[in-house]
Amino acid sequence: MNKNNELMNKAYDAIQNNKDLVNSDYYRLKYHTMPPTGLLNDPNGFIQFKGEYHVFYQFHPFGTNHGLKYWGHYKSKDLINWDDTGIALAPSEWYESHGCYSGSAVDDNGILTLVYTGNVKDIDGNRETYQCLAMSKDGINFEKYKDNPVIHNQPEGYTRHFRDPKVWRKDGIWYMIIGAQSIKEEGRALLLKSENLKNWNLVGEVSGSNINGLNDFGFMWECPDLFELDEKDVLIISPQGVKPKGDLYNNIYQSGYVVGKLDYESGNMKHGEFIELDRGFEFYAPQTTIDDKGRRLLIAWMGLPEEEEHPTTEKGWIHAMTIPRVLELRENKVIQKPVEEMKKLRKDLVSYNNVEINDEEITLENISGDVFEIEATFEVKDAKKFGMKLRCSKDLSEETLMYYDREDRKFVLDRNKSGKGYKGIRKCYIEDKKELKLNIFMDTSSLEIFINDGEEVFTSRIYPDKESLGIKIFANEGSINLREINKWNL
Ligand code: FRU
Repeated sequence: MNKNNELMNKAYDAIQNNKDLVNSDYYRLKYHTMPPTGLLNDPNGFIQFKGEYHVFYQFHPFGTNHGLKYWGHYKSKDLINWDDTGIALAPSEWYESHGCYSGSAVDDNGILTLVYTGNVKDIDGNRETYQCLAMSKDGINFEKYKDNPVIHNQPEGYTRHFRDPKVWRKDGIWYMIIGAQSIKEEGRALLLKSENLKNWNLVGEVSGSNINGLNDFGFMWECPDLFELDEKDVLIISPQGVKPKGDLYNNIYQSGYVVGKLDYESGNMKHGEFIELDRGFEFYAPQTTIDDKGRRLLIAWMGLPEEEEHPTTEKGWIHAMTIPRVLELRENKVIQKPVEEMKKLRKDLVSYNNVEINDEEITLENISGDVFEIEATFEVKDAKKFGMKLRCSKDLSEETLMYYDREDRKFVLDRNKSGKGYKGIRKCYIEDKKELKLNIFMDTSSLEIFINDGEEVFTSRIYPDKESLGIKIFANEGSINLREINKWNL
């Protein structure tokens, strides 16, 4: 048996052997993509190909730690029903012996082509990194390019931390943006170009050096992405090593973007400040694609590196991906909304209008649950603080608290009483307006909160008891009018 088949079979055996244990877990998600067993990290190769959406993912089938990485694969016709199509890449070749690391997908004239990083550790434990191709006609079965790797070395002035190619085509030329580290150990993103996906030339450093304060912004930038939105260019990076600053950068590593204009001749990008894409606890390595409706779609890893103690590990799996979001630009800020298709999952509508809440905490009949979507519009009157508690237990020991604090002008997510798992508080500035809108997606152990039509998003995993289903709505020191609340089971 060849090495590839051997590795594939080993992984499928692991999936099979752990199936019952994994499926016995209450915390399995109902409408998110997850690994069938083991660990999932970055989304890879997100693309619409021949009318179907594909998303691949970093996959360690043999444990919930970051071990030998494969590419797992999901596809979908509608972004909501995903088929697990098994394993796309196994690390069978010399240039990827320690993992098929992150990368992207392009449609090269009807051939679905993956561009990814082969990770190798030599006998002294030193890292080697190779950029590789794999091709497929049917979008399911991939063959590695016979002359892999297509890039053996990083350009001069950079270290072997050179990975996560994201490729796109513009005016008949292929461009690649790739995560890098300067020899002074600063995070960088490099732009390369090619006519055939096989021979690549460096264009230049996209950001870093002396541009807009990103010259000293972490020791490594992982998973860069670059795309046009509303005639501007958006660069997404996941920097490692940025220190917390007040409410900002409190997760171990960040993911965010800058908006500006890329000069395709020099690689230079003039841009504004770095803004975090998500304000919650678990969000990393997002990847985008454009679909035939012209939408710029984003999916991220709903997890973080070095967070390996989630309660699902005892059931043989860890992490998941976010729901797909659509990106828009509003005054140089990226707005993120759940894709329209999510509405097709809605059922059992429960709805209330104009509920006055005056310095009290209320419950509403049939507004409860663990797999749901809520849309709520609050008219802010004179309350100092107002918000919601989800996943409340009857004995009050568990609740996931979210509120707007008008004195601080901050939205707060507090998971200190959310149940098992990691704890903590995340906050983010929101302008104090007459109205606050929340669109909440709860899925047994994941929570995504979209604020004011996508102005900010908080994404987090929480692990409440399966009996903790209560929802409370409150206002402190004054009143609000809950103008409308709609709840659907999903
Ligand atoms: C980001 C990352 C990437 C790498 C992959 C390995 O989470 O570290 O830089 O390609 O994960 O799984």
